[in-house]
Amino acid sequence: MSAVFEPALGIKQIITRALRDTPSVPYRADVGVVVSIGSGIARVSGLAGVRAEELVEFEGGALGIALDLGVHDLGVMLISDDAHLSAGQSVKALGRIADTPVGDALLGRVVDATGRPRDGGAAIDAQTRWPVERAAPPIMARAPVQTPLQTGLKAVDALVPVGRGQRELIVGDRQTGKTAIALAALLNQADTSVIGIYCAIGQRGTSVARVIDDLKQGGVFDQTIVMSASGEDPPGLQFITPYAAMSLAEYFRDQGRDVLLVFDDLTRHARAYRELSLLLRRPPGREAFPGDIFYIHSRLLERATHLCDDHGGGSVTALPIVETQAQDISAYIPTNLISITDGQIYLSPSLFQKGLMPAVDVGRSVSRVGGKTQLPAYRAVAGDLRLAYSQFEELETFSRFATRLDEQTQQTITRGRRVRELLRQDRLKTLPVPKQIIALHAVNLGLFDEVEVVDTHHLESYLHRRAPERIEKLAAKMSAGETLSDEDWRELESVLTDLAAEWHDSSAESSQ
Ligand SMILES: Nc1ncnc2c1ncn2[C@@H]1O[C@H](COP(=O)(O)OP(=O)(O)O)[C@@H](O)[C@H]1O
Ligand SMILES: [Mg+2]
Repeated sequence: MSAVFEPALGIKQIITRALRDTPSVPYRADVGVVVSIGSGIARVSGLAGVRAEELVEFEGGALGIALDLGVHDLGVMLISDDAHLSAGQSVKALGRIADTPVGDALLGRVVDATGRPRDGGAAIDAQTRWPVERAAPPIMARAPVQTPLQTGLKAVDALVPVGRGQRELIVGDRQTGKTAIALAALLNQADTSVIGIYCAIGQRGTSVARVIDDLKQGGVFDQTIVMSASGEDPPGLQFITPYAAMSLAEYFRDQGRDVLLVFDDLTRHARAYRELSLLLRRPPGREAFPGDIFYIHSRLLERATHLCDDHGGGSVTALPIVETQAQDISAYIPTNLISITDGQIYLSPSLFQKGLMPAVDVGRSVSRVGGKTQLPAYRAVAGDLRLAYSQFEELETFSRFATRLDEQTQQTITRGRRVRELLRQDRLKTLPVPKQIIALHAVNLGLFDEVEVVDTHHLESYLHRRAPERIEKLAAKMSAGETLSDEDWRELESVLTDLAAEWHDSSAESSQ
């Protein structure tokens, strides 16, 4: 009859079971109501416990982010389409901030900031999701920027070098080749293990499609991710896209990998945020941007860095793009970004119109990290090149008025014209390190001085065809980042001089 005396055990079991089945995380059934819906913004009442930047879900699954926490209601920016939303619908707080899927599954895909595919492909199979807003690594975890990130463009690699972990702004008017420069840098990673992320903000679908096409043709699409929010997407989605792209980059960085992240472009990002802020009735400041506009870009770009070896040694290099109007780099957003980044590549519409592309204005472009990031071979040629070019730029304007020029001036102009011509490169035609050095060293040696400007590229491609096989060892040294000895330079000089003489002979023959 022992069972009769065991009801106490039964009660214990019941209680134990009840405790086990109760979720250990308290569920906050915080439900509110939509008061009004406007373009990209919803006002919601009731969600008293919601925290700033918390994700909320509307009836039907649309998502938003709580931005303005008012006394009576809440301003929510929508990150999905507002087509099915209406006043009176319920809203619930999700207790977490917006996140994005991360992982290798995204390589070779086109997605939006929340991980929805935009390439018509299958849903992304990623177990891990990271919050879009994350803290920047502390100073102690950062390594100095020292390893170069080759863009394959002579004008950039020689004169405004970019290092891994650097933030280099690409600034210029519309249609000056900004996207083309960033794209060249992505394509030039074909033979490296660098992962590319192209983050498109507020662009037309056709422009993004063209970039995707170029990435595919350049053979780098499988090591690249395109994250895009077009101009038709809600401003909230456009706003969070660069942060999501950065989280994605950080995921790879934390595995010790190197990432090149392009933001195309932050002018449109700032405009999306201005639109949201005005709709939320935040007080407008300069150019109607809200007061925290500097902070939205600084907290984004602060996250790009090169980690020290104790932290895995990975890096995120950021190439933010900003579009100016009528070359006004002192406008609000460009000046903010210039002060946040470690340098800028300035593209000039007048160079572009003259066909001198990439239209990098060498005088107005800087890399604040400087030559430290350059491979030693560049350091040897860049000094002479920059000097020759800047002297030439100064003289060229004057020389138009002068009737007679002394020999020295004439020489500077001759050299400068050839340097300028050699810095020209066709769209997306990137060059490996040895070929760049061959051309730049040859012009410094004066091998182009006797060549007509229109023929410069003929001689250049002749050198590119013939020289590499004769300097195999040297070329390997250049690419590996070894310092070339004086003897090495002399060897290169004699090879290039011989080849230039060969070319002169053969072109003299063919013209006869
Ligand atoms: N190096 C180049 N050589 C020839 N054409 C170029 C070069 N760079 C850009 N272009 C052309 O210039 C136009 C504008 O380039 P794009 O990169 O889209 O400019 P942005 O991004 O500044 O608006 C495009 O039609 C592109 O094909
Ligand atoms: Mg562009």
